[in-house]
Amino acid sequence: MAATEKEVMNEASAKENSAVRQDLDADGILTLTMDMPGRSMNVLNEQLTEPFAEAIERIESDDAVKGVIITSGKKEFLAGADIDGIFKITDPGEAYEAARAYQGFLRRLETCGKPVVAALNGTALGGGLEMALACHYRVAVNNPKAKFGLPEVKLGLLPGGGGTQRLPRLIGIQNSLPLMMEGKELSAEKAKGAGIINALASDNDDMMKQAREWCQANPKATAPWDAKGFKYPGGDAKHPAVVQVLAIAPSMLRDKTKGNFPAPENILASVVEGSLVDFDTGLDVEARYFADLVVSQVSKNMINTFWYQLNALNKGDSRPKGFDRSEVKKLGILGAGMMGAGIAYVSAKAGIEVVLKDVSQEAADKGKAYSEGLLDKGMKRGRVTNSQKEELLGRIKATDKVEDLSGCDLIIEAVFEDRDLKASVTKETEAVMDANGVFASNTSTLPITGLAEASIRKDKFIGLHFFSPVDKMPLVEIIVGEETSDETLARGFDYVQQIKKTPIVVNDSRGFYTSRCFGTYVNEGVALLAEGQNPRAIEVAGLQSGMPVGPLALQDEVSLSLALHVMTQTRKDLGDDYREPPSEATLRKFVEELDRPGKKAGKGFYDYPEGGKKKLWPGLAEQFPPAAEKLSQQEMIDRMLFAQANETARCVEEGVVEKTGDANIGSVFGWGFAPHQGGTLQFINAYGVKNFVERSRELAAKYGERFEPAAILVKMAEKGETFA
Ligand code: NAI
Repeated sequence: MAATEKEVMNEASAKENSAVRQDLDADGILTLTMDMPGRSMNVLNEQLTEPFAEAIERIESDDAVKGVIITSGKKEFLAGADIDGIFKITDPGEAYEAARAYQGFLRRLETCGKPVVAALNGTALGGGLEMALACHYRVAVNNPKAKFGLPEVKLGLLPGGGGTQRLPRLIGIQNSLPLMMEGKELSAEKAKGAGIINALASDNDDMMKQAREWCQANPKATAPWDAKGFKYPGGDAKHPAVVQVLAIAPSMLRDKTKGNFPAPENILASVVEGSLVDFDTGLDVEARYFADLVVSQVSKNMINTFWYQLNALNKGDSRPKGFDRSEVKKLGILGAGMMGAGIAYVSAKAGIEVVLKDVSQEAADKGKAYSEGLLDKGMKRGRVTNSQKEELLGRIKATDKVEDLSGCDLIIEAVFEDRDLKASVTKETEAVMDANGVFASNTSTLPITGLAEASIRKDKFIGLHFFSPVDKMPLVEIIVGEETSDETLARGFDYVQQIKKTPIVVNDSRGFYTSRCFGTYVNEGVALLAEGQNPRAIEVAGLQSGMPVGPLALQDEVSLSLALHVMTQTRKDLGDDYREPPSEATLRKFVEELDRPGKKAGKGFYDYPEGGKKKLWPGLAEQFPPAAEKLSQQEMIDRMLFAQANETARCVEEGVVEKTGDANIGSVFGWGFAPHQGGTLQFINAYGVKNFVERSRELAAKYGERFEPAAILVKMAEKGETFA
């Protein structure tokens, strides 16, 4: 019998404004449909939990209710906790109580004595999946866009609604840890494969039908962990196989996080400790670890930047208003080298027709072959099909003819970093491209306004600064020249989003924002080396500060000769205004005297033995005899972080970066600034502007005027302001 024919009671109309509709059918199946008024998604807050609690009371007390299906009236099931609420909590007691309340509520549902099915019509993340885990059965529509997982760790939190207790009891400790500690999001199919979802459905009707049938077939459902004799799949924390893993898990984690991220540590502890006690005590353990994280500075930093600021940025906070969304149809790329080849790949992947031009057909083909290489790798991993590969490659035309660029609505030049060459390709291309097209330069150092001088349409000239490797790096720094129009900026912004990257917008200046601030990190590492600090300790301090790579290794990657070349050019351009960075003399010595120009040459601060692991060059000790005073790790960490944050503040002062979110996201996504600090300006905010100014002055007195706090910080400290 069709479900609709059976529906005898529909109380939805009586509770029109309720976030949870209740529909009881003649078979006694109560369908709870979450559908929060005035929101595009369901989120966990009082608006949802209050009517839900009423429904639970009914389930418990109404004998007419024989089974329950929970689903959603929105496109997605339930997005998770209301981050606004969590962000505001500063009292651990309050966080603990909030977790206990949600846990208690789900526990009542789980132990109501009647079958409860989660009918997952779309995404269920965080608290949403935790609700589904508290149901006795989960059926999901096999929608490739829907995501399932417990990603709390990405905001410095843990699943505090029973997630760290139910998931390991459902799929085992070893299988559940990576899902929670890395915050992986799975498709419905993968979640089914992992044992998180019980069944897949072809569409909503099929889902509801399966849910109903399960309820009817299992009138006395209970959770496995509430059944007598329950055992963890794969064993609990005392099982010999698990013991082996747990013996090394904490050290492996430390190696990865350097102790900067408390969330994965708390997840591990909650899972392990929870497995040694009964389920309800496990929930209490979880709530305590949750509370610890909610009030931690790390979660506040991460939510500030990767939730609020990133969302605002993706919504177009920095995009000029009043211009329709644009789409690039035909993209021309000049220079099929490392950058051009990468830009071609990501653009073709986004469905854009690409013309990849170099000086010879051979060079252009080589650039296209880069895409082929990436696609072959994807095929080996089963992520790319042959037809996807052919389709993508079919969108890239490799050529040495400028005429092939005709009709391009965007051109990106990625030829050698040479002003004259860039000027000549600009002129040559503007003659054939779409008259309304935008011309962009991927220069990493040359001011955009100067490069625009070669253009006949300066208002349509812009900087689109990609990062290497282009296919992996999520950021593009958009540089606005003096004459770049708002419309051009909007179009540049749209293109960056079209290729699924994150755009930040900065104004024109030497090194723009990211290269300029990134340089201070490497610079500080080299300065410490020159002062006679132990090179290994310097590298470790870099990693401990939260940077992905130590400063000396990074300098080798970038190449010492390139850095020196940029310094030499800057000295030439700035004349008397040039301030020599403390690393310059060392770089000059390494490049010009010692012939150790960097990784590419197999020798820089490290040796790169063929086929072997890199090692710090033993000659460093002789070049830089150990200093009498060995600095503490914290002192070195402070120097590295303060150098970057202070330079960012100077960029704000000079109007190079205007939005705090652009600065924070740019620092983490662009050059890997410590994510647990939430970006360079958030680091200053969290440190306290006044404290930052005082500490900067201390550092300046000891190590040089580069640490003198930016004037803007001194003013902000006086007024008690922070970066908003
Ligand atoms: P690359 O040396 O790998 O490639 C440059 C390519 O331009 C070569 O294939 C060359 O044959 C080609 N070329 C030269 N003259 C040309 C012309 N007239 N028409 C067409 N093609 C021509 O250099 P890479 O690393 O790709 O850098 C390119 C640009 O991107 C530079 O401006 C660089 O500063 C910038 N950039 C580089 C980054 C990096 O990490 N390598 C990061 C961000 C920007």
